[in-house]
Amino acid sequence: MEKVWWKESVVYQIYPRSFYDSDGDGIGDLKGITEKLPYLKELGIDVIWLSPVYQSPNDDNGYDISDYRAIMKEFGTMEDFDRMLEKAHELGIKIMMDLVANHTSDEHEWFLESRKSADSPYRDFYIWREGKEGKEPNNWGSCFGGSAWKYDESAGMYYLHLFSEKQPDLNWENPQVRREVFDMMTWWCEKGIDGFRMDVISLISKTPGLPDGIKGKNGYGDYGPHVVNGPHVHEYLQEMNREVLSKYDLITVGECSGVTVEEAKKYAAASGRELSMVFQFEHMDLDGGESFKWNHKKIRLSDLKKVLSKWQTELEGKAWNSLYWCNHDQPRMLSRLGNDGDMYREVSAKMLATCLHMMQGTPYIYQGEELGMTNYPFTSLEEFRDIESINAYHELTEKGVLSPEEMFDYISYKGRDNARTPMQWDDSDQAGFTTGTPWIAVNPNYVKINAKEQLSRKDSVFHYYQKLISLRKEYPIIVYGTYELLMPESEELFVYVRRLEGRELLVVCNFTEKEITYRLPEAFSGEKAKLLISNYGRESVGKEKMLAAYESLAVLI
Ligand code: NOJ
Repeated sequence: MEKVWWKESVVYQIYPRSFYDSDGDGIGDLKGITEKLPYLKELGIDVIWLSPVYQSPNDDNGYDISDYRAIMKEFGTMEDFDRMLEKAHELGIKIMMDLVANHTSDEHEWFLESRKSADSPYRDFYIWREGKEGKEPNNWGSCFGGSAWKYDESAGMYYLHLFSEKQPDLNWENPQVRREVFDMMTWWCEKGIDGFRMDVISLISKTPGLPDGIKGKNGYGDYGPHVVNGPHVHEYLQEMNREVLSKYDLITVGECSGVTVEEAKKYAAASGRELSMVFQFEHMDLDGGESFKWNHKKIRLSDLKKVLSKWQTELEGKAWNSLYWCNHDQPRMLSRLGNDGDMYREVSAKMLATCLHMMQGTPYIYQGEELGMTNYPFTSLEEFRDIESINAYHELTEKGVLSPEEMFDYISYKGRDNARTPMQWDDSDQAGFTTGTPWIAVNPNYVKINAKEQLSRKDSVFHYYQKLISLRKEYPIIVYGTYELLMPESEELFVYVRRLEGRELLVVCNFTEKEITYRLPEAFSGEKAKLLISNYGRESVGKEKMLAAYESLAVLI
């Protein structure tokens, strides 16, 4: 397998709004990130994925961009950005930008021009259609509730918005749109940035004719089959690769909802004609249901193993995996798959980290994951900030699909705001995130869970992540080894082996709070066996092993 730096890297995602506020306005900013770079250096990560920092009216917290070449006022200035980039590079940390190009903000000048007149060169930058019998052009529902079409008075037509109505979809079929996007990307590359995370890139090519979708419980048609991995998506990405990506040494990851293993082999093919890797969603969707993600289902371990193992083995040698439990769109994994109660919070956070970081692929850590941050204890709807949760609550309760109590429970458990509460830096007021009033409430558990406390304690979750990262740098088997799942049926243990050039690495994770007897395979209990990491601080392992609650081990021979 070809050795490349981004396969050997660990990425850390920053959600700038919630990372660190340097000027007391309650909103994280670029100067704040610059100030905290030494913290990330200490953790040992190689790349920062920066959620959008561009100018935006913030309908969807920056995922609605009104100027790709300007910085959001609340986050600072372009000079602040340049300083941050320079400082990061001095520390050997690369910066991967979020590229949101399936849609822009409706306040982007392209859209303002587009809606003005049918003769504008920008009209065809977006997807405009006439209504059908006084109704929307098709039955698609938007990801954030309601129809995916909005009637625009001045244009006298509808425009498509797969997300909020302030996020009109760009028309990638128009070569001029692609040209503009590629020029903008080149502009950032020339500035010296190191990569792109591409927002919903699997949705940029729509099926011609935009056919109706199958109606769901919310009364709208599912656009999925008509936009996910659409007819020209690979063509467009190959063009992007030729025009921009291939000219620089970049890390690229496509956010590809609905991606299958077969599709991923095209997006992230080892031949490198498109992207370095993709984010797949199959493991995130395991607790989905009839009402989209809104439920309180538990993920079955055997299902999780099946999905993750499929991605491990089927991409082997053909494409590259990304590895993640958390991001700004997901609840905290510790509260979803681990145990966020006082007793097992730290061991279960470490176990989850072991399970993921010992796999093949590039691991992503979402801010606060390295501290074992948890979901927020919501008590009222007013505490939510996210357009997705708020709109879904109203839509599904008003239509009588779910009761207000059920829906409140579901958004509290699955809502994206769980990931977006401020980073917990210390036990001072507002967790040291801001001297002002934070834009979203701080999780009250910051008094116990914070970076300052964890930095001062050797056996903290932070230091465990630091060790996992350093092991990845020391042992090529963790990066490049092949993967085999053992005990696929077990609903308690996740066990797998990695293999590289005669060496083997056994990873054992107990996903339950029960003690479980586990017999190590003969070879791993011999003299030569080296325990690389243990979340119970053990020095060695015997043959017959009583695994404690949420215990994990990685043994090398
Ligand atoms: C995916 C992003 O991760 C999410 O935060 C955003 O709301 C949508 N794309 C729309 O840009």
